Amino acid sequence: MKNLEHDIKFGPMLLHQKAMSVLLVFGREDRQSDGFWWAAEKLGYRCNITSSPETALETYLTHNHDTVIIDARQTTTNTNSSNSSSSSKTTTSTFDAEALCRSIKATKCSENTVLVAVTSRTSADQEEQPIFSLIKAGFTRRYEENASVTACMNELQTLEVGEVRCRLQLKACAALFQALENVSEAVEVTNTDHEIQFVNHAYERVSGYSSEELLGRDSNHLNKSDKNRDTAESIHGHMKKGKHWEGTYYTRRKSGDTIPFHCKVIPVLGPTGSISQYVSVRSQFSDTYSQVANGSMMSFPRRRESVVRAHSMTIEAPITKVINIINAAQENSPLTVAQALDKVLEILQTSELYSPFQTQDIRPDDDPVASDLVDGLMSQNVKRKLSGHDIQRSSHHGHSHIPSSPAYTLSQVPEPVMNVLNLDSSWDFDIIALERLTNKRPLVHLGLKIFSRFGVCEYLNISETCLVNWLQTIEANYHAKNYYHNSTHAADVLHATAYFLDKERSREIFDQQDQVASLIAAAVHDVDHPARTNAFLINEKHQLAILYNDQAVLENHHASLCFRLTHKDQSVDIFKNLNSDDYKTMRQSIIDQVLATDMKQHFEHLSKFTTSITKHLQKLEGDNTDVEAHEADMNTILTDLSSHENRTLIKRMMIKCADVSNPLRPLSQCKEWAYRIAEEYCQQTDEEKSRGLPVVMAQFDRKVLNIPKCQLAFINLFITNMFDAWDIYCDIPELMNHLQLNYDYWKDQQELKEKEQKSSQGVDNS
Ligand SMILES: *[C@@H]1O[C@H](CO)[C@@H](O)[C@H](O)[C@H]1NC(C)=O
Ligand SMILES: *[C@@H]1O[C@H](CO)[C@@H](O)[C@H](O)[C@H]1NC(C)=O
Ligand SMILES: *[C@@H]1O[C@H](CO)[C@@H](O)[C@H](O)[C@H]1NC(C)=O
Ligand SMILES: *[C@@H]1O[C@H](CO)[C@@H](O)[C@H](O)[C@H]1NC(C)=O
Ligand SMILES: *[C@@H]1O[C@H](CO)[C@@H](O)[C@H](O)[C@H]1NC(C)=O
Ligand SMILES: *[C@@H]1O[C@H](CO)[C@@H](O)[C@H](O)[C@H]1NC(C)=O
Ligand SMILES: *[C@@H]1O[C@H](CO)[C@@H](O)[C@H](O)[C@H]1NC(C)=O
Ligand SMILES: *[C@@H]1O[C@H](CO)[C@@H](O)[C@H](O)[C@H]1NC(C)=O
Repeated sequence: MKNLEHDIKFGPMLLHQKAMSVLLVFGREDRQSDGFWWAAEKLGYRCNITSSPETALETYLTHNHDTVIIDARQTTTNTNSSNSSSSSKTTTSTFDAEALCRSIKATKCSENTVLVAVTSRTSADQEEQPIFSLIKAGFTRRYEENASVTACMNELQTLEVGEVRCRLQLKACAALFQALENVSEAVEVTNTDHEIQFVNHAYERVSGYSSEELLGRDSNHLNKSDKNRDTAESIHGHMKKGKHWEGTYYTRRKSGDTIPFHCKVIPVLGPTGSISQYVSVRSQFSDTYSQVANGSMMSFPRRRESVVRAHSMTIEAPITKVINIINAAQENSPLTVAQALDKVLEILQTSELYSPFQTQDIRPDDDPVASDLVDGLMSQNVKRKLSGHDIQRSSHHGHSHIPSSPAYTLSQVPEPVMNVLNLDSSWDFDIIALERLTNKRPLVHLGLKIFSRFGVCEYLNISETCLVNWLQTIEANYHAKNYYHNSTHAADVLHATAYFLDKERSREIFDQQDQVASLIAAAVHDVDHPARTNAFLINEKHQLAILYNDQAVLENHHASLCFRLTHKDQSVDIFKNLNSDDYKTMRQSIIDQVLATDMKQHFEHLSKFTTSITKHLQKLEGDNTDVEAHEADMNTILTDLSSHENRTLIKRMMIKCADVSNPLRPLSQCKEWAYRIAEEYCQQTDEEKSRGLPVVMAQFDRKVLNIPKCQLAFINLFITNMFDAWDIYCDIPELMNHLQLNYDYWKDQQELKEKEQKSSQGVDNS
């Protein structure tokens, strides 16, 4: 009977067990060695036989046998006969079986080898030999001498389905461990007493502890955080029922800070249904909020899934679909076709072909707030009733270009202001405090600080006085009476822009010209904002709307006015010393960025960005097993990203993100901005009503205003997908955490509000 190969299962894994290989080590051939030899032959096992420890070791090292059977009878005989007269057997003893066993154990490949000692038969009247020294030498099994071929076959077969198969399965674990080491989620395995048995690489990274520090520790003590009090019970309850738990879990890192993770805790059930271990899998929140866009509760797919969504967004420009289809078709195409398609892609991705889809495609029918936002921010069409009176808003009190107070320099800034300014490179920077301390001139002060940090004066070859004059002129042209769109908003966007420019990825990609252009664009991007939306200006036939043909009315005005103010007087002209080429590039870049803040083109800019930028960075994150290849890929991608076209896309996305970063600020700031914008929009609605103009955003009516609801809709509609993509570009976990917390805050507020409404209705009804 020939032994065939087997497929065996190890959990869900399929393994293949080959015919067993056996190494026989016998000092001399006798009936016993023959017995094994013939047994192996009959069973179809591969078999080698050697007579000396040296050749045994050599053969073992080349073939790495599953089983090594070593003749240990002489060894036994030796100890046995030490006090009796030496028998003829000892003289035939040629080697020390235990020493050989130890040598084999010392080799690297021995972990999966079964070592069998053949010992002498003990006769009925003899006391059985203790096997302690054999175990100590490394044998795991003993065979009592029996030369019968049947007995030898039984032994070999038992080994094959028993220990050899187990070791094959254990060997497979190495692959599983490797896989765990290379996933991005933090994985932890604990026993039922919560002692940590295993943590992977990612776990060490996020927790700040090394695996040595963690193994054997009580996991509950490590992550004690008050924030988990409620979840701990919920987890416990789920575990008791053998169910897995999923939710937000706070992990305290070695550094002491506590961060929220999306966590799954899974009980591992043994065959009898009792729990043997717990597995916890955590992923960082920075990863996604993408599900929010669906209007469902927050759920947290892993980053990969999120990005797949980001560039196959539910709200998808047709061109993105086309590109995806071509990408897919390329995979199975012959080289020439694939190359031709590459050309097609190149054209598609760089030309102005991205047709903005109809706004009604993305306006959720059942969400009036989102509809309002779409109408109010994205569409230019006059809607609903038209008013009879077309009163022109006066274009404006001529622009102030004379600095309102004498210029001073950074060194003259008072200390309390400087204390706030010195935190300018941190995300928690307190812009509201700056607004207060500078008596409503945050832009001049923050501008001075940030522009000097980025060497703007040096780049432009101008004096600090000229810069201060310019900043004062720009700030003076923001309307202090606006609730939201005043110079504090400009300073806030400038701050966020500088923060993004500081990110490592941006430092790799941008040159100083990009930096200077982006900082200037941020400072001027809403200058002379009338606290009304484009739709309003179009509806009232404002002269700016007429001037710019209803196209990106305000954005055109901000960009245009910036240059008019700048060139009005030598003392404020920060571009006066640029050569004409540099000026042209600078001007183009500033205009492009300011125009990009028009929300009408939001999805177009976002899909271009994800198609050309995030998708490629994303690809790298996927396969980074080979470090060198990864670095090489990274360098080519960085070179590609640094092309003029790509830098343009990134700068557009940067100012867009900076412009709407309010929901990612610390809660107190986030709230302040939310109230300011709501007030400004409500004032617009007031005016629309009093003048009989169409109401553009009916949700921003004081009678029905629900700020939490508006914030949630805004986040769902515009923020989530965009910052997912931006996070992939420049890694901003801190911001994404704020977004999460703020979202939770607004959600709570909304629920509270609904409860109040319900209960007050209840009172009314009774
Ligand atoms: C050991 O056995 C294998 C096949 O099982 C054979 O190819 C090889 O030549 C043998 N080696 C020695 C040293 O006998
Ligand atoms: C050797 O094994 C054979 C087959 O299993 C068995 O019949 C026989 O009794 C064994 N001999 C001794 C001495 O145990
Ligand atoms: C994969 O795991 C190995 C071994 O633990 C580790 O050294 C390596 O850095 C990991 N690679 C990645 C890309 O995570
Ligand atoms: C944290 O606590 C949970 C729930 O008690 C536990 O399942 C998990 O293993 C703990 N992890 C760490 C690292 O402390
Ligand atoms: C969106 O939500 C609906 C239910 O509200 C669900 O059926 C659908 O699968 C969700 N889509 C995605 C992409 O999550
Ligand atoms: C800086 O501008 C001055 C004129 O104000 C000019 O004379 C000088 O050459 C410029 N320096 C550089 C390096 O361009
Ligand atoms: C901006 O508007 C707010 C009111 O919402 C006001 O408190 C603040 O002083 C204004 N800032 C500037 C610089 O005008
Ligand atoms: C932009 O960057 C992507 C990704 O690195 C690259 O594939 C593409 O060719 C670049 N586009 C241009 C116009 O350089």
